[in-house]
Formats: sequence, structure tokens, C-alpha cells
Amino acid sequence: HVQVIAIDGPTASGKGTIAHRVAQQLGWHVLDSGALYRLTALACMQRNIPLDAVDQVADIASQLDVRFHELGVYLDGQDVGEAIRQEAVGNGASQVAALGPVRAALLERQRAFRQPQGLVADGRDMGTVVFPDAILKVFLVASAQARAERRYNQLIEKGFSANLLTLLHDLEARDARDMQRVNAPLFPADDALVLDSSDLSIDQTVAQVMAWYKG
Ligand code: CDP
Repeated sequence: HVQVIAIDGPTASGKGTIAHRVAQQLGWHVLDSGALYRLTALACMQRNIPLDAVDQVADIASQLDVRFHELGVYLDGQDVGEAIRQEAVGNGASQVAALGPVRAALLERQRAFRQPQGLVADGRDMGTVVFPDAILKVFLVASAQARAERRYNQLIEKGFSANLLTLLHDLEARDARDMQRVNAPLFPADDALVLDSSDLSIDQTVAQVMAWYKG
């Protein structure tokens, strides 16, 4: 029986970083489910497909030619690891993620990431929809200010330009959209443990998840 740890939460709450660190400590694989939504948005943008053209976007999602590699993320053979991190693509991801048929198209693809040695899955609905039988469900939150600052530092580090106030504004808009959307609104699973990382370091946050896992 394959073990899954689900880490869900709002934008820029640090899910990705925490998921990777936990997976590293356990020797497990990682599923960055947000990357699949970002890749779908990017593929549409490259083909000039409007992000609200439900059927066309769902087709793109079901046919995505994606490879996750230690060295990068490949879409149609092109390394797009950096491109999918851009804010415009993140905002596009949030739009296509609101479409039910797109979520349906990506569901089995996400489940196929289960690996015998275990999987840490990060996203919005890992614990509620994709892996309801996960052995540990963490709902990671942090204040909007803390998240905007983290996202700002992340973008600057990658050489992108960024504006803190714009990021805070975008982040709050994305929170609202993620919580209100009819398809997969963001909320913790009944059996999720909520972790507020506003005042915790990465190491402290990872330590809490590991402590919960070891029970
Ligand atoms: O860091 P952030 O949450 O902004 O980015 P992400 O995790 O890469 O997700 C990008 C977008 O995809 C989010 O705004 C979500 O709306 C959406 N998403 C989703 O709906 N379901 C998931 N399992 C993962 C991401």
C-alpha cells in the first residue's frame, strides 16, 4: 500500500519547499500538482487559446506532453521550469484550475504519480480529492503579508522583477478566487492538521510535519 502525505494550502504558503524537504528526509517522491495547472496555462498561452475556452483548455490538459526531470520540467520537449514560475503563468493556472473539465482531465494523471516508496503531494485538493486516503494531511497557512514577502524574495532570487504591493494584491485576489470557485474550493480536509508557518522557519515547519508523520 502506497503512502501519501498531502500538503495543501493557499498560494505562496510554502507548500512546495516543505513538500520537497519532507520528501528528501523520507526518500519519497514529490508531486507538484500546481505545476500541472501552470503547464496547462502555459501550453494554452503558447497556442493562443483563451484560458476560459473550457473544451479547448481541457483538451490541452488531457494531452499535455510533460516530463518531470531532476534537471527541469519539459513541455513538448522544451525546458519550461523557469517559464512556469512567472506570475502571469501562475495567474493563468488559477484561471484554468477553476474549470471542472480541466480538473477532471488532470485527476488520474496526478494519481499516477504514486510511487512504491511513498509520495509527498502538494496542492489545493490533495487531501480532499486526489488522495483522500493520505496517511497525513497538512493544511499549510501563513498571513498574506508573510506569503507576499516570500513570493517577492523567490521571484527576485530567480532574476524576475517584482513589486511587493502588486504581489500582495494579486495574492489576495487569488485567495478569494481559490476559496470561492465552485470547482474545488480551497478548504482543509476534515482530517487535516492546520499548520500556520507565518512565524516559523522552513526547518521548524518541516520538523512539525515530520513529528506528525512519526506520530
Ligand atoms: O504557489 P501557488 O499556490 O501560487 O502556485 P501553485 O501551487 O503552483 O498553483 C498554481 C495555481 O493552480 C493555484 O493558484 C491554484 O488555483 C491551482 N491549483 C489547483 O487548483 N489545484 C492544485 N492541486 C494545485 C494548484
